[in-house]
Amino acid sequence: MATEVMSIDVYIPRDSSALSLGAEAVAQAIASEARARKIDLNIIRNGSRGMYWLEPLVEVVTAYGRVAYGPVTVRDVPGLFDAGFHTGGTHKLGHGVTDDLQFLKSQQRVTFERVGITDPVSVADYVAHGGYQGLRQAFSMSQADIVQAVTDSGLRGRGGAAFPTGIKWKTVLDQQTPQKYVTCNADEGDSGTFADRMLMEGDPLTLVEGMTIAGLAVGATQGYIYLRCEYPHAQKILNEAIAAAYQARYLGADVMGSGRRFDLEVRLGAGAYICGEETSMLESLEGKRGEIRVRPPLPAIKGLFGLPTIVNNVITLASVPIILAKGATFYRDFGTGKSRGTLPIQLAGNIKRGGLVERAFGLTLKELLYDYGGGSASGRAIRTVQVGGPLGAYIPASQFDVQVDYEALSAIGALLGHGGIVVFDDTVDMARMARYAMEFCAIESCGKCTPCRIGSTRGVEVMDRILKGVDTDRNLQLLEELCETMLQGSLCGLGGMTPFPVTSALKHFPEDFRARARH
Ligand SMILES: Cc1cc2nc3c(=O)[nH]c(=O)nc-3n(C[C@H](O)[C@H](O)[C@H](O)COP(=O)(O)O)c2cc1C
Ligand code: SF4
Repeated sequence: MATEVMSIDVYIPRDSSALSLGAEAVAQAIASEARARKIDLNIIRNGSRGMYWLEPLVEVVTAYGRVAYGPVTVRDVPGLFDAGFHTGGTHKLGHGVTDDLQFLKSQQRVTFERVGITDPVSVADYVAHGGYQGLRQAFSMSQADIVQAVTDSGLRGRGGAAFPTGIKWKTVLDQQTPQKYVTCNADEGDSGTFADRMLMEGDPLTLVEGMTIAGLAVGATQGYIYLRCEYPHAQKILNEAIAAAYQARYLGADVMGSGRRFDLEVRLGAGAYICGEETSMLESLEGKRGEIRVRPPLPAIKGLFGLPTIVNNVITLASVPIILAKGATFYRDFGTGKSRGTLPIQLAGNIKRGGLVERAFGLTLKELLYDYGGGSASGRAIRTVQVGGPLGAYIPASQFDVQVDYEALSAIGALLGHGGIVVFDDTVDMARMARYAMEFCAIESCGKCTPCRIGSTRGVEVMDRILKGVDTDRNLQLLEELCETMLQGSLCGLGGMTPFPVTSALKHFPEDFRARARH
């Protein structure tokens, strides 16, 4: 009797970052080399594990777990086969069992538990790894109880404002209208952030499930994912995952045989930073120019097409399934103070080991930068980090002991935003970074209010004079007054928060601004 030869599972990411580093060509080279050597491989295109310095990371399933090789190039492929990588053989690119790598082992992957593990567009794989347990649980609960569970979990919006998600949902639930909407903010415009993209490309069904639970909770039957057009791979994967969910009846007229409807669509934004602000996002979703709406009314009361609407970030919505599946207390037990749960932190910029670290709130910046990040990529001292995107404050090295949570960062005049950390070494010119903040605001301003539209352009001019060492004292005073005007008078966070990077750079690195006058 012939013995059945089992094919070997090999995982190669289809995540954008891995693709940008050659993952597609590596996948093709591995497939053709396997054919030539008559080795039966089953190539699965997964998401990234979030260790970007090792991408493209190829993993092979062995009896003792998944074994990692990376960063793999097409040239490495024949040598990998010669070394028997497909059975976990030793090779200079080998890192041993992936789950034993310190970078991953010390994390608390809750929202990202399946990212990089499963086939992102397979409903069967998703369900086999605990998917749809949250929705199943939600169907056994009243709408008010679902909202209460989200409130009790302590989940706060991960898009930047950190507003309690349960309170937002309750406002939508309380509105008496026949139609409501669930919208997902996947605009992810902050510099150095990629958690939304990584999740959408690595485990999109978690987002689909989270949005379905949100719809069930507040009585909405239609959901939209507002995705930035610069994410074409995420768009493709999301659409494949949504089609698979419809096929398996996890979306549509009769979700999980409940008789309840939930439909979901991806809509593309045109790539303006301001379209990430929730009211501009709603304008854009309605097909209009992305411009701020004056609040009140809140989107929860009068949102998309004037109807009650949930607007939540990708990570917020993707955190909901596990809260329902494992209970509010499970989630709440992570974290510190009023910052409950876990946060996917993104390490970017001048960092040796850039990538995604999901941990409970409360670890320090220092741990992130050195234990996870391994210090700067250049090998020089880290001088500062900008946390929370282009509108976040610069934090100097003397404050790297700060805990990463909403309150601790706010206490030092910083903000956490979407959890992106951009690293700069000691060659950075902070006056140039301050100019950059003003320039960014001038380019991205929607133009609706004067302090932002005019102020940011004047800010660039003032910074140019400071950079040239012209009348430094007077121009520095003017800069501070301008920042105060933008802070107090802007209609939304873009103009209102642009002063944060500028004033933090001035406060912590005054020598970079004054040195110009001396020279
Ligand atoms: C200028 C500006 C840009 C923003 N960009 C984003 C974004 O790209 N993604 C996001 O989720 N939230 C962004 N926000 C925050 C949203 O306005 C809103 O608070 C968030 O989508 C609500 O979801 P959450 O409660 O789940 O965080 C931005 C806010 C401002 C002021
Ligand atoms: S602060 Fe800027 S982006 Fe916001 S409404 Fe005013 S002009 Fe528009």
